[in-house]
Amino acid sequence: MQIHASIQGVRQALKNCARIVFVPTMGNLHAGHIALMTQARAHGDTVVSSIFVNRLQFGLNEDFNSYPRTFKEDCEKLEAAGIDLLFAPRESDLYPEPQQYQVDPPDIQNQLDGAFRPGHFRGVATVVLKLFNIVQPQVAVFGKKDYQQLLILRNMTRQLALPIEIIGGETVRADDGLALSSRNTYLTPEERAEAPRLSRTLAEIREAIGKGDHNFAKLERDAMFTLDNKGWKTDYVAIRQQSDLQAPQPDSRELVILAASRLGIPRLIDNLEILI
Ligand code: PAF
Repeated sequence: MQIHASIQGVRQALKNCARIVFVPTMGNLHAGHIALMTQARAHGDTVVSSIFVNRLQFGLNEDFNSYPRTFKEDCEKLEAAGIDLLFAPRESDLYPEPQQYQVDPPDIQNQLDGAFRPGHFRGVATVVLKLFNIVQPQVAVFGKKDYQQLLILRNMTRQLALPIEIIGGETVRADDGLALSSRNTYLTPEERAEAPRLSRTLAEIREAIGKGDHNFAKLERDAMFTLDNKGWKTDYVAIRQQSDLQAPQPDSRELVILAASRLGIPRLIDNLEILI
């Protein structure tokens, strides 16, 4: 696996490469990331990944400084996964000057997670567009665990006519249902034991909807109440249309149940798709 920190190094190395598939990450790789890499391999000839903890997408009170950085272990995992090239820029490589030109997604950036993380999706869209311009992939793979991020990046790619196919990778879960996430490392043993309640709660909503309960507002309220009663601090539980993450219409068939809730320090997000 080639490793490059500079934009010029990546451009040079990828100059003559056929169909490039790209999996951007912030590192601290787990089985969920590796599943995206495996999926990427099936879509192209050259698999490129990046590791960059992007300051632009962290709020002032968020965990930019403490975000787990495990570069050596990450490289071993990427090597084992057969990645061809890793782009691992320093901040000075990617942002040699303040990034004043940014991508400002439409109002969806202020909803759901965006309502609790102002500016987050602007930071994500900006770094991803910049990474796309550097790597120039034909395909890019993002996890469905960050469902809103996937939708925003898909829409950005379409609206800006980028010649890139965006693929969503399924969420990988621990045996007890907890969605794998770098932020799970912040959980204490007690919190880790409690954490699967989030995915269980989403599964219960899915079951209720499947049985014909379409009182979405009540399902959302009850779920938040259940979580908060068990010591969580829930930002939202929301049942939305998969296509645009807006409230379901009477004829909506493809829905997704999304949630974000804090358990102690870590803020966990999860979602489940449902067809009705
Ligand atoms: O999902 C992530 O890890 C990040 O938001 C991404 C897409 C790599 C941009 O920094």
